[in-house]
Amino acid sequence: MRVLGAARRPPLLLSGLRAPPPLRRASLRPAGPQLLSTPIFYANGPPHIGHLYSVLLADALHRHRQLRGRGGRLATGTDEHGLKIQMAAAAAGTSPERFCERMSAEFRGLFRQAGISYTDFIRTTEPRHRRAVGHFWAALHDRGWLYRAPYEGWYCTAEESFVAASQVVERPDAQGRRQMVSLESGHQVHWTQEENYVFRLSAFREPLLRRLREGRLAVTPARPFGQQVQQWLQQDLPDLSVSRDRNRLGWGIPVPGDGTQTVYVWVDALVNYLTVAGYPDAHQEWWPGACHVVGKDILKFHAVYWPALLMAAGLEPPEQILVHSHWTVQGQKMSKSRGNVVGPAACFQRYSVDGFRYFLLRQGVPERDCDYYDGKVVKLLNSELADALGGLLNRCTAPGLNPGGTYPGFSEECFPRDGRGPGRASAEDYQLVASVQALPLQVEGFFEGFQIYKALEAIADCVRRTNGFVQRHAPWKLQREDPAQRPWQETVLHVALECLRVYGTLLQPVVPATAAKLLSRLGVGPTERSLRSLDFLPRYRGETCPFEGRPLGADTGLLFPRLEKPTEGGHGAPRGLNRGCSK
Ligand code: MSP
Repeated sequence: MRVLGAARRPPLLLSGLRAPPPLRRASLRPAGPQLLSTPIFYANGPPHIGHLYSVLLADALHRHRQLRGRGGRLATGTDEHGLKIQMAAAAAGTSPERFCERMSAEFRGLFRQAGISYTDFIRTTEPRHRRAVGHFWAALHDRGWLYRAPYEGWYCTAEESFVAASQVVERPDAQGRRQMVSLESGHQVHWTQEENYVFRLSAFREPLLRRLREGRLAVTPARPFGQQVQQWLQQDLPDLSVSRDRNRLGWGIPVPGDGTQTVYVWVDALVNYLTVAGYPDAHQEWWPGACHVVGKDILKFHAVYWPALLMAAGLEPPEQILVHSHWTVQGQKMSKSRGNVVGPAACFQRYSVDGFRYFLLRQGVPERDCDYYDGKVVKLLNSELADALGGLLNRCTAPGLNPGGTYPGFSEECFPRDGRGPGRASAEDYQLVASVQALPLQVEGFFEGFQIYKALEAIADCVRRTNGFVQRHAPWKLQREDPAQRPWQETVLHVALECLRVYGTLLQPVVPATAAKLLSRLGVGPTERSLRSLDFLPRYRGETCPFEGRPLGADTGLLFPRLEKPTEGGHGAPRGLNRGCSK
């Protein structure tokens, strides 16, 4: 893509090209409330599991921060302008307004069903957003960062962006007709030539690179995504067309003061984060310092264009961009034409909401694409939620072992602190206690480092070891009636329930309903479920345990029922392919 006839550019509103204005150092607020966002979803079709994954990652992080008492907001919404929405509405034989209303409601419905704890839902067709875009555009214009020029290049409607000529190849379609496609996405591109407003993006290459190197704009995970952004910034960074001819694109926000042009959908969409923060009115409570969760396909828009646009408008770039990879199905990208799109509703029905939330967050690795197939879900959920976690709870609360149905007592003689004295606990038991003690902090590190799958792996590992602990000491073989054996039997159960209390508390951001059931069964009240009040095994330190002797919850039902193996015809495992993402 290129700007044509630069020599014929009209003069700048302000004198000449300026270096980006000096900015205040981004305030690092690691523990304060933060505006966390998901991408806003194109309202051109119903949601699939890839969209769900994007929003789940943000939801789990937000919920974890709430548990820590950090507060903050979680914003999501729908991206409703642009050519592809205009075309999808036309294909459905309806108006873009009605089409978007319906699609946006589908996304909201899915998020409600999935238990997404969003605090804000924004639609780009709302008046508050139109006003924010108008102000933002005026700031860019008045500060001299826009000019009008003929612009031409390959335009990809599916991605709503120009694609560099080096990234375009000729590839015949299914009928053998000539067509040009984007190398990266495989979507068709069309040669487009028109006069647009252009943003002086090129002036921001150096300042952005500096920010990135100094860590003031954090792209996580740094490998491969931070590196990828650095690479983009080391290459040529051409100016960016930021409007479209209104005759071609009528479904969008008109350029303020110029009815012949429509604001480029990506500028329109990115400003949603500011709209949510309250811009152009008081927004300082939530901006700067935002954190955006995005898929790898939209990284350039968030880590290059968006920070540059913000700097140009005199605003701070986001503090952090958390990037994730994609879900494929049988090794292939999900697409309507391949007929391999996996819809969340069917998955929730098959695996329950919590089961599917657990699967996506446990198996999704931000650094790598992950392959989906039904058998993998069943195997994981049966082994980790039904057998390991559910089985542990079941065994340790069984009426045969605990006829009184109360939280068992702990004996310091049996499990003396730091192994002092004879006791009955083994070195492995002490290691388990140390691991569970360290788990909440470890999990917090993984959540904040956007490695939620690792947090779940660490929890699953501790659950496995707790089962080992119970198995090792076989409390069912100890005689309750024997005064020499009973304290040890109770202590084994007490330690196991204390471990379960930690797992239940830590799992709340991922499987809220299952964790609530587990905690209720343990007799943990609603005000005792935060991370702040999580005090593991105080009796081991010689302190009192508020749960000891308390009645257990009444619900003795299965924590997570085992699932049947999938039948033929579902999304089966690919033959001969590496099953899932390689860890
Ligand atoms: N509307 C833009 C975002 C604008 S944000 C200012 C957009 N929308 S989208 O609906 O196409 O994608 C929304 C999110 O879903 C992106 O983060 C994208 O990466 C994610 N996913 C879409 N398909 C996906 C998979 N197959 N797997 C995982 N995530 C995927 O882009």
